[in-house]
Amino acid sequence: MKPKMKLAVAAVMATTFSAPMLEAATAYNTLTGEAPVVVAHRGASGYLPEETLGGYELAMKMGADYIEPDVQMTADGQLVAMHDSTLTRTTNVADLFAARDGSYKVSDFTLEEIKSLTVKPTGALSAPDSTYAGFTPSMADPYKVPTLSEVLDLLTEYNTANGTEIGIYPESKTPYNSPQNQAIVATLKDKGYDEPSDKVILQSFVRESIIEMGEALIDQGVSASLAQLGGVRLVDGVYGVSGSDGFFSLAEIADIADGVGVSAGGITEEFITSAHDLGLIVHAYTFRPLSEEAAFAMIQPMLDWGLDGFFTDYTDFSRTVVDANAPSAVPLPAGLPLLFAGLGGLAMLRRRKAA
Ligand code: G3P
Ligand code: CA
Repeated sequence: MKPKMKLAVAAVMATTFSAPMLEAATAYNTLTGEAPVVVAHRGASGYLPEETLGGYELAMKMGADYIEPDVQMTADGQLVAMHDSTLTRTTNVADLFAARDGSYKVSDFTLEEIKSLTVKPTGALSAPDSTYAGFTPSMADPYKVPTLSEVLDLLTEYNTANGTEIGIYPESKTPYNSPQNQAIVATLKDKGYDEPSDKVILQSFVRESIIEMGEALIDQGVSASLAQLGGVRLVDGVYGVSGSDGFFSLAEIADIADGVGVSAGGITEEFITSAHDLGLIVHAYTFRPLSEEAAFAMIQPMLDWGLDGFFTDYTDFSRTVVDANAPSAVPLPAGLPLLFAGLGGLAMLRRRKAA
């Protein structure tokens, strides 16, 4: 148990026994003391076609704290949610555009062309017909490639209808693309995602993109956090992250970002502590547990180390793990109020007898 957690538990015990009321532990083992966040990686990508409105909707119903779109720019300058640099793996582009050169790069297609495609299910627990038992998507065409604007509209509608405060965690995809970085921030502003309460975290594997998006946030008056993606590295005794454009120490990252999103395989407790010491949050990618049991095995050790959140294809199993870590309300021992009442009554009787 970390010292921060120990102090929280001690404080709760002290107040529980000195005040006749319910007291709750207020801190998790994270940098801020708030609950670790569950980030729906590419939506509910384990079950439904990734980076689609239907998939994002299911992830929100499953209890995601953030939804994650990877963002790329089309040939005509529109932002779409798509992970790969080509359309091949996740869509029927090869069937519909057989006459094209075969590379099927997102950046070679217009938005209209991309909108003609259907996204295929690729997750390990997905059904071939893109269904999920008990879930009916609310939109007409749930498995088309959405624009970033459409993802933000869905998020707004969902939060408004359900009283939730789910955030969004867009990644400006590699390679470095200045118009793309500027357009992501402009789209957030256009859709009203410009206040801290809107819960936006912008991420990239490219340090230059993080710096550029940070400057664009200031220029455009938008509030969002920034995260550097990459792999954990220890170089000459100094922890850092290796992204697309090389290694940067945690101190260098702390100059430009609020946190790191790092490959789960390289994370150690010492790395998390080093990042926290510099005020950086630590998010891990990507957990793909195929059961609750597997989710506990993968995620729990890192939550014990103070992990601040993680990307997952399986929001449902992952939500269960985080919820199981909630500092619980510490109830007054059940018989204590009765005991107090009984003692009061006895004292009254004794006073009457004496009189
Ligand atoms: O953005 C965090 C995580 O999604 C990075 O991996 O390749 O799925 O974008 P990738
Ligand atoms: Ca991503």
